[in-house]
Amino acid sequence: MKKIVILTGAGISAESGVPTFRDAGGLWEGHRVEEVATPGAFRHNPALVHRFYNQRRVDIQTREPNAAHLAIARLQTAFPDKITVVTQNVDDLHERGGSVDVWHMHGELLRIRCTKCHSKVGWTKPLDSAEPCGQCQRTGTLRPDIVWFGEMPYFLDEIDLALQKCELFVAVGTSGVVYPAASFVDIANHQRIPTIEFNLQKTATSSRFTESRLGPATKAVTAWVEELLLAG
Ligand code: APR
Repeated sequence: MKKIVILTGAGISAESGVPTFRDAGGLWEGHRVEEVATPGAFRHNPALVHRFYNQRRVDIQTREPNAAHLAIARLQTAFPDKITVVTQNVDDLHERGGSVDVWHMHGELLRIRCTKCHSKVGWTKPLDSAEPCGQCQRTGTLRPDIVWFGEMPYFLDEIDLALQKCELFVAVGTSGVVYPAASFVDIANHQRIPTIEFNLQKTATSSRFTESRLGPATKAVTAWVEELLLAG
């Protein structure tokens, strides 16, 4: 089995009922998502930002992993030291599907962090500014552990290293417009390794992939994983 880095985006969770960012216009309560998911929005209107993430936190707990999450977990279980799963998604559907060591480069919805003492803790309930930090007891310092626009994604060094070492790069359900994830295919191309994109349709990055497999992730990713498992 080749060493594979699999990058996933909102499209892999779409068939679990989680809305993608750009397909439906990306609007929430009349705001562009980019206007809610920023440090500036949180400074100026923390209640609005908390409400946005509280809704998503409640929603995600009603969703279930789909066949694409399960297929990737199956592949990872069969070849644990060959498969690296990197996701832009803040949901936990890869983990609930059975994947381990998922690198959430944009953070996690079910985790919060304190901006003062930097402690992080798992969180499933609504959050508001009155909630004291369980570690330092300050109030008004807790925020979703989400990487907002203008902030540095997590795991960039680890991802870069994994991309340098991998033999196949795969992107599933991402529109390829948000960087740095959209440039991972360029790093792979620089290594002269094959690349496969899975998406419902052609994307901004399709021309930079060796191969595009069009179709719903539940079908296309599952078929690809079956091929790999058969080949061993
Ligand atoms: N199967 C495969 N692909 C799908 C499916 C599906 N069932 N449904 C939708 N898609 C594809 C769409 O065609 C689109 O290209 O998934 C992609 C989703 O794109 P975006 O909504 O832009 O999501 P993503 O690329 O993950 O966004 C990146 O942007 O707002 C930020 O931080 C946020 O992590 C997010 C980042």
